[in-house]
Amino acid sequence: MKFDKIFLIGFMGCGKSTLGKKLAKQLGWNFIDLDAFIEKKEGKSISVIFKDHGEDYFRNLETKTLNQLSERSFYIVSCGGGTPCFNNNIEIINQLGMSVYIKLSTDTLYERLKSEKMNRPLIANLTDSKMKLFIDKTLKQRAVFYEKAIEIFNSELQSEEKFVKRLNDFIV
Ligand code: S3P
Repeated sequence: MKFDKIFLIGFMGCGKSTLGKKLAKQLGWNFIDLDAFIEKKEGKSISVIFKDHGEDYFRNLETKTLNQLSERSFYIVSCGGGTPCFNNNIEIINQLGMSVYIKLSTDTLYERLKSEKMNRPLIANLTDSKMKLFIDKTLKQRAVFYEKAIEIFNSELQSEEKFVKRLNDFIV
């Protein structure tokens, strides 16, 4: 099966946007950051959306936005960390295109997120030690959804170059 859309999924801080932009450039495809797309449509940051309307409202926006993307071709979507884990979104993602789970350990995610908490409402107010517990617990809960991805890229163990070459077997 060959795909004309790639969805990057994985925990906050795993590098979805960085890899997504790089892949889009290499393939000559468009890049969409789902969070940025939602922020633009709503005219509010993710933090303000959470504060004003709550998490459920945001999760419904994610689902609505995914469904709206179905008619586009040749694009890479960097999903939010929770996107595949709510409202059957992983099934929608797997119907629309090629899903890739960028897998990292709790320790690596923790090191990366320590300095990047501020714009992420789920962790913004946690102390470092509470954030580590949150990552550990949430990653375990979410793994069941993340691991439904068509491909898993373990960026601590695999070379990015080899992985990108392998992706070519899956795309049009
Ligand atoms: C979230 C991850 C964020 C953003 C929101 C909720 C999550 O995206 O969608 O803050 O539930 O893990 P990033 O993974 O791009 O940080």
